[in-house]
Amino acid sequence: MLPVIVHSVNELRAMLPENKHVALTPTMGALHEGHLSLVRHGRQLADINVVSVYVNPLQFGPHEDFSTYPRELEADCARLENIADIVFAPNDAELYPLPQTVTITLPPLADELCGRSRPGFFQGVATVVCKLLNCVRPQTAIFGKKDFQQLFLVQLMVAQLNFPTKIAAMPILREADGLAMSSRNAYLTSDERQRAVLLPNALRTAAAAITAGEKPTTAAATVRQQLQADGFVVDYVECRNATTLTSTASGDIVLLVAATLGQTRLIDNIEIRCPNAAKRELA
Ligand code: PAF
Repeated sequence: MLPVIVHSVNELRAMLPENKHVALTPTMGALHEGHLSLVRHGRQLADINVVSVYVNPLQFGPHEDFSTYPRELEADCARLENIADIVFAPNDAELYPLPQTVTITLPPLADELCGRSRPGFFQGVATVVCKLLNCVRPQTAIFGKKDFQQLFLVQLMVAQLNFPTKIAAMPILREADGLAMSSRNAYLTSDERQRAVLLPNALRTAAAAITAGEKPTTAAATVRQQLQADGFVVDYVECRNATTLTSTASGDIVLLVAATLGQTRLIDNIEIRCPNAAKRELA
């Protein structure tokens, strides 16, 4: 069955009885297998499986791709056949009837990594996620680990603001050659698409080197050099503590990267379990 498309918050709430397990997968549409894996997880958990499709203006900078971001609601609903019950697709007037003067303030981490080159991005994400959680009131909301920093900040917001929602974190889904699935991969030319795989390859090589004992900062520097040599414009390559996202802590590591290929910004990450994690210094 195709999901029911709902545009208004009132209509949505009327369809969600309180005694049912509701799952929400928030998306901006242009759904790919990565999104569908999140929605399938929701299907397993929930009585009512909701997917929101909304391109959130608050999280785009003035020179970013808000106006060109793919909007394909009908095709998205077809992709969700038999796995979602409801697609919540509000328009701007429904979600932001007034200028949004109340927003979520996040810790300084929101201005690091992706936040450094995308000021206000995570505040926009957190604010819309907060609104979506309040509209849908799900028991579970599902996010992918590809957006590792986003996931971390959403988890922090939900914990610190006492949302009753449980956040489910799902693994990155990759194309056959290893490129992390993303709606923005559609922007890559065929030549760029072939070269894009060098990014996950570099991450895997670095992870193996770190596991074998290389200093994480050295491995990160090598990834940066490799990507630059391969024609990427590197925004950041950083090793962080995988649990706290701090750079000075020790522990299990996540190696995070953002780099632009042509016009397309790609992000990816790899988690590295360190058996001697407690002793390892990242910086
Ligand atoms: O990850 C995304 O697609 C978006 O940032 C989200 C969580 C749907 C908020 O607009």
